[in-house]
Order: sequence, then structure tokens, then C-alpha cells
Amino acid sequence: MNERIVSGNQQDGDHTLDTSLRPRRLDEYVGQATVKGNLQISITAARQRGEPLDHLLVYGPPGLGKTTLANIVATEMGVRIRVTSGPAIERPGDMVALLTQLRKDDILFVDEVHRLSRLVEEVLYSAMEDFFVSWVIDKGLNARSMNLAIQPFTLIGATTRYGMVSSPLRDRFGSVYRLEFYGEEDMCTIVERSARILDITAEPGGIREIALRARGTPRVANRLLRRVRDYAQVVADNVITLEVAQTALAQLEVDRIGLDSMDVRVLQSIVEKFGGGPVGLETLAASISEESDTIEDVCEPYLLQLGFLDRTPRGRMATRRAYDHLGIEYEDDASNQPRLI
Ligand SMILES: Nc1ncnc2c1ncn2[C@@H]1O[C@H](COP(=O)(O)OP(=O)(O)O)[C@@H](O)[C@H]1O
Ligand SMILES: [Mg+2]
Repeated sequence: MNERIVSGNQQDGDHTLDTSLRPRRLDEYVGQATVKGNLQISITAARQRGEPLDHLLVYGPPGLGKTTLANIVATEMGVRIRVTSGPAIERPGDMVALLTQLRKDDILFVDEVHRLSRLVEEVLYSAMEDFFVSWVIDKGLNARSMNLAIQPFTLIGATTRYGMVSSPLRDRFGSVYRLEFYGEEDMCTIVERSARILDITAEPGGIREIALRARGTPRVANRLLRRVRDYAQVVADNVITLEVAQTALAQLEVDRIGLDSMDVRVLQSIVEKFGGGPVGLETLAASISEESDTIEDVCEPYLLQLGFLDRTPRGRMATRRAYDHLGIEYEDDASNQPRLI
């Protein structure tokens, strides 16, 4: 299940690729114009004042460039970055240790920040607001709480689930940036750039085809590019032409708009087993024997973006576009919803 080629989540083979292809500077970071523009101003202003950048929260589906952006901010600010993640910090003491080791103006990058435990999170509140941590020393009757000043730093939090970040934590970020799926032109630029770095020969048609099937997600684009390159190497003289890309991607079972068999099963299940919906996420996941997290993180954001899925208070519904794409005939029911004929 985790091996879906169109999943934005990092997979086994991705790590080296991610690192070698990761843009280092803001001007190499393709697309996301609003985010980049605002960030550029904040960075310049903070540097002029000689202060650390405000804490910032970056959110968006997996593979859109959150970790990349955090690293770029560190480079542009000329500071160190310490990296950890929500699930990695088990006890408040671990967070205290991390925070007290920070040097002036360091960045602390916390990936999956929505998965911090309540107690660990509470350590962050005073650290973020006033740059001190408090913890309890001694036990029983002698227990008392101590405050310790820490160096001014910048917290960068990343999350795929904005709604799951607690509001006290959310309120302590000075800015919040939402990453969007990349449009066709940006995706082409990304594939072209990666091909150049990896020394892959690709014609414009081949590049566009990969870009179109990568569901607006750079990590997926890079993964598809690598797989198509393998194909080109073995059967097509090492050149990624349009035809080579089309054949290779069809063989990888990624359709022309980037859906794989799991997306199709999700949509088919809504239409065929649940009369077009609405159906709850858990029920839907059970009906196709997949985990609801995978559906929520990877399938759903893209299907929503395509307008194939509607999220209603009563559950998910398939739209006319979904029926059309799947080639399923429908008629409108009394409440003007598409229904299987
Ligand atoms: N804006 C971008 N421009 C170019 N490449 C990008 C961009 N965003 C992401 N990438 C590529 O996609 C890969 C995955 O990005 P990453 O930052 O790890 O995603 P996330 O942390 O959101 O899951 C990176 O290694 C990089 O190669
Ligand atoms: Mg990441």
C-alpha cells in the first residue's frame, strides 16, 4: 500500500533523490509564488533587524515541498537547522533538551508537528513566546518548577493536517503558509530541472507527460521521472520522448491525469457500493480494505483538487466529473445528484 507510485509520502528509494534534487535557495524553489513572495519579505526584514524570523507553520499534502522550504529558510537566513518530528519526541524532557541546546537564531524544524503530545507541546508554548522553558525538578514534596532561559530561535512546523494542530500551538506561529498543488507549467519546470540534474535526456513532450501525471506533486514527479528513465534506458535508446513516457506510465498504471488503481477503487466504491455517496471515510476505507489515513492524506486531497470528490458533512460524494472520467453512465436524481443508471 505504501508503495503506490503516485503517493506523495517519502518512500524507501526517495531519500537520496529528495536530497540531491532539493532546491537550496528560494529562487530555485519553483512555483508557490505567494508563499515565496511573503517569505522573501519576512526574511529580508528579519535580517535587516538582525532578529530571528517569526515562527512559521507550513502545511499541505505530502511531497509538495515543506521540508525543502524549511531548509531554504535556514540557508537564506544563514542559520543552522535542527530537525526533528512530532512522533520522535516522546517526553517533555526530550523537548527541553532540544530547546536548551539551540544556539542563537537557530531554526528548529518539527515535521508532523500535529503529532506532538500535549505535554511536549506545552513545553513549546513559553519557549515560542518568551524564550524560556520550565520543568519540574525533584519529586513529591520537594518538587518545584524551574525556569530556564533559552536562546532566541525560530520554530518551523510542518504538517499535512492543519486541522489537527491544536489552537494554542497554532496561535503561536507568526505566519502560516499553505502549499498548493503545482500547476502544469510549474510541474514541467520541476521535471525539466530534475532531468537536467540527473543528466536524463527528455524531449519536451515527454517532460510534459510526466508533469501531467504527477498529480501536482514534485516528489511524485521525481519518482515518475526516475521510473520512466529506467524504461527509456532498457527499451528506448535512453531518450524520454512523449511516446516513451506514455507507454512507461501506462505500464506503471498511472492514468493520464495521475490516478492509480487505488484512486479509481475509491471512486468506484463510492459510486457502485454507496450509490454515489455520501459515505463516511472509515466506511469507505473498509470497503476497499485500505487505511483511512492513506485515503485522507494521499487520495483525497488530489481528488478534491480535481473536483472528483465533494466533502459534505455527511461524508464523501462522487461528482459528475468523476463519473465522466471513469466512463460510468449516470442520471440525475431528484436532488440533482448523479446516480448510477
Ligand atoms: N518548489 C519546488 N521546486 C522544485 N522541487 C521541489 C519543490 N518542492 C519540492 N520539490 C522536490 O520534491 C521533493 C519533496 O519535497 P519535500 O520538501 O521533501 O516535501 P514535503 O516535506 O512537503 O513532503 C524535494 O526533494 C524536491 O526535490
Ligand atoms: Mg517533509
